[in-house]
Amino acid sequence: MLNITSAQLREMFLKFFADKGHAIIPSASIIPENDPTVLFTTAGMHPLVPYLLGEKHPMGTRLSDVQKCIRTGDIDEVGDASHCTFFEMLGNWSLGDYFKKEMIPWSWEFLTSKEYLGLDPDKLAFSVFEGDEDCPRDTESFELWRSCGVKEDHIFYLPKKNNWWGPAGVTGPCGPDTEMFVITDKEPCGPNCSPACDCGRYLEIWNDVFMQYNKNADGTFSPLSQKNVDTGMGLERTIGVLVGAKTVYETDLFSDIIAKIGELCGKDYASASEEDVRAFRVVADHVRTSTIILGDRRGVTPSNVDQGYVLRRLIRRAIRFGMNLGMPENSLSEIAKVVTNQYKDVYPELMENEAHIVEQFNLEEQKFQRTVRQGIKEFEKILSRMGDTTVIDGVTAFRLYDTFGFPVEMTQELAKEHGKTVDLEGFQQRFKAHQELSHAGAEQRFKGGLADNSEETTKLHTATHLLLAGLKAILSPDIQQKGSNITAERLRFDFNFPRKVTKEELKQVEDFVNEAIKAAHPITCEEMTVDEAKAQGATGVFESKYGEIVKVYTMGNVSKEICGGPHASNTSDLVSFKIQKEESSSSGVRRIKAVIGK
Ligand code: ALA
Repeated sequence: MLNITSAQLREMFLKFFADKGHAIIPSASIIPENDPTVLFTTAGMHPLVPYLLGEKHPMGTRLSDVQKCIRTGDIDEVGDASHCTFFEMLGNWSLGDYFKKEMIPWSWEFLTSKEYLGLDPDKLAFSVFEGDEDCPRDTESFELWRSCGVKEDHIFYLPKKNNWWGPAGVTGPCGPDTEMFVITDKEPCGPNCSPACDCGRYLEIWNDVFMQYNKNADGTFSPLSQKNVDTGMGLERTIGVLVGAKTVYETDLFSDIIAKIGELCGKDYASASEEDVRAFRVVADHVRTSTIILGDRRGVTPSNVDQGYVLRRLIRRAIRFGMNLGMPENSLSEIAKVVTNQYKDVYPELMENEAHIVEQFNLEEQKFQRTVRQGIKEFEKILSRMGDTTVIDGVTAFRLYDTFGFPVEMTQELAKEHGKTVDLEGFQQRFKAHQELSHAGAEQRFKGGLADNSEETTKLHTATHLLLAGLKAILSPDIQQKGSNITAERLRFDFNFPRKVTKEELKQVEDFVNEAIKAAHPITCEEMTVDEAKAQGATGVFESKYGEIVKVYTMGNVSKEICGGPHASNTSDLVSFKIQKEESSSSGVRRIKAVIGK
């Protein structure tokens, strides 16, 4: 067991890789740019996909960072010992630079050297890929661990299910990995006990992915143009294992947040009932994640679609569990302030956006409080009318959503507490019909394929730059990008604007972009510091914590933006531009959907 804080682990990791020639880059936004397949950044490698596929990164071929990540697939599990919806991932990357024979000894050094974690080699285990028809057995990694001094019976060959990593999308860069585990004092669960079983003897702390394939849409694998390394160490989990905490909620990452909740509801976490402990954890996790989402530079506010919907669900779930704890109204923003303070040096954007975060929590809480009491009364009426019926029908669930603001998941949870279920399909039918009626546009999202670099997607990406320039020229110089989402078929672009854009204005913006296309501006890319980019009047999200070098794309005299690329080489490649739709995205944010000529 180590005596180490989460701040020390972050610092130690980044220093280790800086000493090995890595540029330390700031965390990217929690909202992925140009990736239609996922709502949030789910791993450190996610914002780096274009570079793993061969795009040149302005900071070089060795990078390291701590990335804000959100995974909301298992919100319902939150409250148990290990699930968090937000986590930080420590990572390092080789973009076609070093590979296994450097990375494995480095991992060994970081884990065992007294200067770093100094873990006992006998308490460490490793897994490597056993091989299949797609990729051979990774004997090289096995031998490399052996030559570090690892005993053979501490290295396990495991199948693709365990030792292969690719991003959340169906396609994208991927490859075999080697995972590192701390061996706990738990006895082996049987003769076949290994890191592949969940018995708790082996706890994963780090993953080195040897990313050398691209998974194609047809399920086949082709070699990438370069061999990359992508590693990920989940800060929450690893610190929990290192300090021997019972759960992540017992680590320093949660201690202040939990203490604040206790203070607000007048209860003590350490001696709370099982039910209250779960509520403490749900509130802590959800307020932490919501604060991170609200405080992001590409900020999102609660709404009924996409990221805004997840945010609303997290906040409302926190309120509900807070009510169970007897927490007074408008407490969430008080907890949020603990979060912004805790991360002020790591993610300064949180503190910068604190007033906005507090306002949004209070607004959402007021909205929810107003209806939830009525809703719960209504729910009880429904229950008493149901008698022995076990399924709450879709119409009723939709009424609870529509009239009382109950996210359907909340109705499901309440139902479960009373031994009932909800007809989800029926609910969704109503929900869709409603969306179509109100033109709110809950659009299809989970299409296959990660941020693809196809020609059409690239051109549409270029079109978003021209569109932003047009919006600034026609509507207001204060307009900023608030998000974008690009597929090979269309672009979607969100921006701040307080009202509906008129038909005439949209036509003017469209003409502006079409003129830029006709003018056939060559598109150039330069690398410079953020300060230089600002001085040249480039737009873009400025994150200059580390004096970062950025890419600036220039399109004639029309557009100059900080951006990772890729882009078309000439504006004329776009042929033509057409706006298909303009609508509200969330409060103060408008959304445009547009296409280009083929
Ligand atoms: N991308 C790898 C992971 O998320 C390192 O585990």
